[in-house]
Amino acid sequence: MPYRLDIPGQVSEEQLLAIEAVAATVPRGGIVVEVGSLFGRSSWAWAKSVPKGAEVFCIDPWQDNPGVRTMEAEFGIVYGLEQFKAYTNDCPNIHAIQAYSPQGVLWERAIDVYYEDAVHINPILTENVNFWTKWLRADGIACGDDFRPRFPDVVRAARELAETTGGDLHVVDFFWCVIPASAKERPKFKKLAKTLKALADRFESLQVYGSAVSLVPLNEVPAEAEAGGSLCIDLRIVNDGQHPWIGPDEKLVVQGTLTDAEGVVALEHKVPVFEGHLKYDIPIDLQLRLDLNDIAPGLYHLGVTLEGLDAAIGKAFESSILINQVNGRAPSSRRYRFKAGDESCPTLSDGWSSPEGNYTWMVGGSSSVTLECPTSEQDEVWLGIRLHPFASAGTRRDLEIQVDGVRLASANLSLSGELKLKMPARKRTAIRIDLIHSNTSKPSNQTVGNQDHRDLSFAVEYVDIDFSE
Ligand SMILES: C[S@@+](CC[C@H](N)C(=O)[O-])C[C@H]1O[C@@H](n2cnc3c(N)ncnc32)[C@H](O)[C@@H]1O
Repeated sequence: MPYRLDIPGQVSEEQLLAIEAVAATVPRGGIVVEVGSLFGRSSWAWAKSVPKGAEVFCIDPWQDNPGVRTMEAEFGIVYGLEQFKAYTNDCPNIHAIQAYSPQGVLWERAIDVYYEDAVHINPILTENVNFWTKWLRADGIACGDDFRPRFPDVVRAARELAETTGGDLHVVDFFWCVIPASAKERPKFKKLAKTLKALADRFESLQVYGSAVSLVPLNEVPAEAEAGGSLCIDLRIVNDGQHPWIGPDEKLVVQGTLTDAEGVVALEHKVPVFEGHLKYDIPIDLQLRLDLNDIAPGLYHLGVTLEGLDAAIGKAFESSILINQVNGRAPSSRRYRFKAGDESCPTLSDGWSSPEGNYTWMVGGSSSVTLECPTSEQDEVWLGIRLHPFASAGTRRDLEIQVDGVRLASANLSLSGELKLKMPARKRTAIRIDLIHSNTSKPSNQTVGNQDHRDLSFAVEYVDIDFSE
């Protein structure tokens, strides 16, 4: 087989088979340009699958890519040109160009295949597509990776290319490929279309429901906690597949279990993931909170799983946790849950959407809420706010928090989390919180087919007010 699964990379075996099929259409002496090569997994497949005399130009900066740290650690390698060359040293037809495409590349040759696998979001994606398709021959093939809901710019670009060339768009797993109108009647491209269709069908038939779902902690899971307190774990559920992983009538439930040294279940807590969040390919962040009120001090096993998903296919995680005895008085605490049907949910009007199953989105540029909370002169008050930024593909959102008209903090968040803020001690009957969040986006602009046109920035899950009595 002209591909190597031992080269670390981000393309699946099905995609490598699709690459092999496209490479077979390249004429002798032809040219493939690959933008985004990483360690050379797809590059090796192109180089070994093209006919004799064809050349493959691989463009990658081979620097500044924090996303590869896990892969580096797992394989004991370092991302860079040297490592790429080591993996592809038996491919004399590869020419590595160390650059950021398209700006860093000087190019003046017609090409037969353009494979895009660098940056999946605009403006860079469009810049690359515009630049490289200019050099494509009339019957040349544009193709790439990550045709999936998570990357709407890729989906849009592939569809637009199919439209402007009057061509046919083929998708195998996340691999996309446009066979232009000018080529599709020729036998070798007809054969390619047939092969891609067969690969797509085979891939569909191999899909295991939920097989790409994983549940990972967003922060380090604490190794210790205090009896009587609580253990909060921020979680992310990701479906890395092309398909929805839960039917419209099903419910996904995250379950946390503490088991003592004898294997006896000491605590079990379930968090339903509400239907509104069940979008495939879009990460869901939530918090699992275990109240340790009736837990005796000792060493426990913590297991976090997705109920209802076959444990063999849904990935979960586990760890050990030491519950310590504590002395002293716990502070008083009030939790206002910003969710539909919850008694503690405050009245929300301007700047808020309707409360949903697990939280409430703030809409527009600012939102205010007043929470009743009588405190005395001496009370030291802590405000905790759990927020979910509306963020995808590394977007960050700005937030300024004002309490009783005074600016208390500002934050720039890309992940869900809780902010803990100390407020000055003074006598109050209520606390007014103003949240300023002018940096918004519409879900409809982020995901293909999404009809949600709200201007979103953050959702609030709850506000805690802790004070000494
Ligand atoms: C998704 S990975 C490529 C995966 C690779 N094709 C494989 O088979 O595993 C994306 C690569 O594009 C590189 N990259 C980022 N910006 C780029 C740019 N402007 N031009 C070329 N490559 C870029 C990244 O550093 C990374 O190595």
